[in-house]
Amino acid sequence: MGLLGLLLGISAVLVVSSRYPTWAAGAADKARHQEPLFLSPGTPLDASPFGSLWPLPQSLRISPERFRLAPYQFQIVHGPGSSAGPDCLLLQDAFRRYYEYMFGYSKWQNRDEKTLLCETELSSLQVIITSEDSECDKFPSITSDEAYQLQVSKPTAVVKAGKVWGALRGLETFSQLLHEDDCGSYFVNESDITDFPRFAYRGILLDTSRHFLPLKAILTNLDAMAFNKFNVLHWHIIDDPSFPYQSTAFPELSAQGAYSPNHVYTPIDVRNVIEYARLRGIRVIPEFDSPGHTQSWRKDILVPCYSGKHPSSSYGPVNPILNTTYNFMMKLFEEVGTVFPDDYIHLGGDEVDFSCWNSNPDVTEFMRKKGFGFWYSKLESYYVEKILDIVTSLNKKSIVWQEVFDHGAKLQPDTIVEVWKSFLYYSELARVTKQGHQAILAAPWYLDLIRYGEDWKNYYSVEPLNFIGSKSQKELVLGGEACLWGEYVDATNLTPRLWPRASAVGERLWSSKNVTDVSDAYKRLTQHRCRMLRRGIAAQPLSVGYCGHAFI
Ligand SMILES: *[C@@H]1O[C@H](CO)[C@@H](O)[C@H](O)[C@H]1NC(C)=O
Ligand SMILES: *[C@@H]1O[C@H](CO)[C@@H](O)[C@H](O)[C@H]1NC(C)=O
Ligand SMILES: *[C@@H]1O[C@H](CO)[C@@H](O)[C@H](O)[C@H]1NC(C)=O
Repeated sequence: MGLLGLLLGISAVLVVSSRYPTWAAGAADKARHQEPLFLSPGTPLDASPFGSLWPLPQSLRISPERFRLAPYQFQIVHGPGSSAGPDCLLLQDAFRRYYEYMFGYSKWQNRDEKTLLCETELSSLQVIITSEDSECDKFPSITSDEAYQLQVSKPTAVVKAGKVWGALRGLETFSQLLHEDDCGSYFVNESDITDFPRFAYRGILLDTSRHFLPLKAILTNLDAMAFNKFNVLHWHIIDDPSFPYQSTAFPELSAQGAYSPNHVYTPIDVRNVIEYARLRGIRVIPEFDSPGHTQSWRKDILVPCYSGKHPSSSYGPVNPILNTTYNFMMKLFEEVGTVFPDDYIHLGGDEVDFSCWNSNPDVTEFMRKKGFGFWYSKLESYYVEKILDIVTSLNKKSIVWQEVFDHGAKLQPDTIVEVWKSFLYYSELARVTKQGHQAILAAPWYLDLIRYGEDWKNYYSVEPLNFIGSKSQKELVLGGEACLWGEYVDATNLTPRLWPRASAVGERLWSSKNVTDVSDAYKRLTQHRCRMLRRGIAAQPLSVGYCGHAFI
């Protein structure tokens, strides 16, 4: 009765078979669940009117008319008048990828001859880039145009976008419209979609210092980001525990600071990440956090801590009183600015521990000469301002954690402040934007903080602009970021911990402000999660249920 029972809307717990995991188990287990038991994807009674779209497009009309298509008679092609052609490798790669996502798991090859003769109604998806410069060979940026229109009608569907970035988002949406019936036939409903992101900055932070993440784990995550229309990988590449970034100017940094000679990102690794991301319309912003969080760096640029009158064996934050520090930083950021093509570098600046600075007599003397008194935050600002100057002189812009702003450093006009402290983050957004600075919000989206239950709903329910401020202040909020800090995360649990919890943030940052229906989101996200599984992303379950395509 299993499947039939589900289709008839009978509670999922009735299905008992040793084939399936034990979620159908005992009363003690059930008692813990306050949430109603939702039925699984594919259950008509529980379907969202928006199918399995995630994130929900800005404006859409889906008709009940559906068109049959078949893998062996379907093509993704450059449409007439497109400014991009077969020489646009970014699109060629995307066409191949999306064909694979749509049909790659299909068993159609094994079906008998009869089904192969079925008539199909949709024969192609045409992709048309409308502006003269498709930006095919460029890198995405904060101003990239990601808008697209998607029309599905007989006999061909059309994605129209100004730039390749919109085409990528449209391809993803088209692939999400595809559904397969129980007999293995494919359908796409007649649809009309106009779409664009609500926020320009939609990031995921990965931390490769607390645990090294092998290249493959990073690339897999970039795939998942594209499925959720994220467009920034904030690569928190180094920190106290390890320094895996292999510098060409200073090879000793990773030689001494990485966990092992194998736990490094070589220049080729970094280039691969950046190109893989570019092909998916994703920017890579590296974070070189200082002056704190630098225990893995070269000791000669750190402050020796004192115990009483004598240096102890420990080191504190970066030494802000030596000219050699700034010479070193200049050279390092020169390299980083060349290796990473994005306009922005994240400079960190969070959680600086002042106790070591305070213990060191040379630092104390420097403070006295500068008239800083005992305000170590002034010393911190002195340092950060110099680093901001260095980065500006290299024609790069910067992002900093909120303490840099809180401690009163003079920021560059285009410095972005990242708000991360959970305490009163709306007032922080108001303060930052009041002073005319751009902001991104991370505070409510620290996905490393886990607890029992469906915490994605909390991420989903955040409204980033829910602070008191003028219209122009709100326009300064560029977007937000889901952060997965690495204390308890390595390649074994990165993907399931991040997805689909980060998907909730993805929809909040992409979709219209009024897309807030949690129960509709649940239905779409459940199916979206199953789709991610099919595409090789080990996304964890949202709640009780199953995915139709596998023994999951
Ligand atoms: C697609 O078409 C089918 C068949 O007419 C219909 O049952 C279904 O509700 C449509 N899907 C959406 C998302 O509108
Ligand atoms: C450090 O640089 C400043 C300004 O460029 C200069 O005045 C100072 O003498 C330098 N200090 C040392 C120790 O070289
Ligand atoms: C959100 O608002 C837009 C118009 O402002 C409307 O077209 C759309 O249907 C609304 N979406 C939802 C899910 O309510």
